[in-house]
Order: sequence, then structure tokens, then C-alpha cells
Amino acid sequence: MEHEIPVEIIHEVMVARGALTNAEQRALVMDLREIAKVAPPFSPMTGWGKPMSVKITAAGRFCWFSDRKGYRYIEAHPQTGNPFPPIPPLALAVWERFESRVPPDCCLINYYGEGARMGLHQDRDEADFGFPVVSISLGDPGLFRIGGVERKSPTRSFWLESGDAMALQAETRLAHHGIDRIKFGESALLPKGGRLNLTLRRVAPA
Ligand code: SIN
Ligand code: FE2
Repeated sequence: MEHEIPVEIIHEVMVARGALTNAEQRALVMDLREIAKVAPPFSPMTGWGKPMSVKITAAGRFCWFSDRKGYRYIEAHPQTGNPFPPIPPLALAVWERFESRVPPDCCLINYYGEGARMGLHQDRDEADFGFPVVSISLGDPGLFRIGGVERKSPTRSFWLESGDAMALQAETRLAHHGIDRIKFGESALLPKGGRLNLTLRRVAPA
């Protein structure tokens, strides 16, 4: 990542538009394809026993997981039992733009197909909220909604486009957030359409 990444603040969130060039986006998608071969994407169950509309997998030590027993981080793929592959260097480089003290130990990979969404939630299963959650968007635009620490706080939304990076940190680290919808088929990055979102996190204490 040789080029400067200008960071703007949108609704209190640090957003780096175009953090990845088109060539970097294509290279990262190739890395993610290799990861999906050894750690196949799956749809976790919600607490209500319905499968989530996004498919997830991960790179790094941890993968977020959910079933009727609740939410937690796991260290082995639920189907293969194998550890998750290493986090791609391009994703690590984006993390370092926001957080240089520790490396991430989880890169959650969400795939949104046509009609997929993610309800409002907090990311609060990590040991230390002093470290950010850094997200990278690839493919079709996603309408990102952000509220406050309280679930009932007012929310606002903005579109995340392919190549954008974002960090939830400081006052937004525990803010409720989600994806209302995607513009399926708008981007040509993924041959079958859809949106990939990477969230880099530090799960274990530093
Ligand atoms: C998430 O909150 O885990 C994903 C957010 C996104 O897809 O941008
Ligand atoms: Fe999240």
C-alpha cells in the first residue's frame, strides 16, 4: 500500500475511501478464494435458530461463531476441524494504518449474496475494546448503519464501496452497527456478484 489513504470522519466513524486500489482489491479476492478452499464459508445459526443470511469464514487464529448456545470465538473450522489460514498481508497492511500496537488475530470474512443483510449488533466478544475493529469492503456497495452504544440510540447510515476501509474505535468501538442491504450486481469485482466484508479484530489480550 504505497499510496496515501485519506481518512474522513463519517458519522463519527473513521472511513478511508479507496484504501485498496483496484489491483489490490483483485489480489485480495484471489487470496480470499484460496482461504475459502481450505476453510469453506458457512452460515452460522442465530440465537433464534435461524441461519444468518451472510456466509462467513475466517483467517487468523480466531473465527466468530454462533449457534443456539450463543456467540463465541472458535479456533477450528466447524466442519473441517482445521485451524484457519493466515491473514492475507494486504489485509494486515490496512489494519496497520489504524492500529500499530498489536497485530489482529482474527480476520472475519463475510459474504453477502443477493438479499443478504446483517442486523444491528455490537462487536463485544473481544478481550480489549482499546483495539479497533477494522473493516474492508469488496464488491457490491453495502448500506452500513451505525447507532450508539445503547441499542435504542438513533442510527445513521452511509454506503461502503469496494476498496473502502473503516475503523470502529474509541467512541464508536461498541456502537451498534449492521448492513441494511447491498446493491447486488453493481460491482464487477466478484464474478458472481455480492459483497465481501473483512473485519480485522484483536480477540485475545495483547
Ligand atoms: C460486521 O459487522 O461484522 C460486518 C459489517 C459489514 O459487513 O460491513
Ligand atoms: Fe460487527
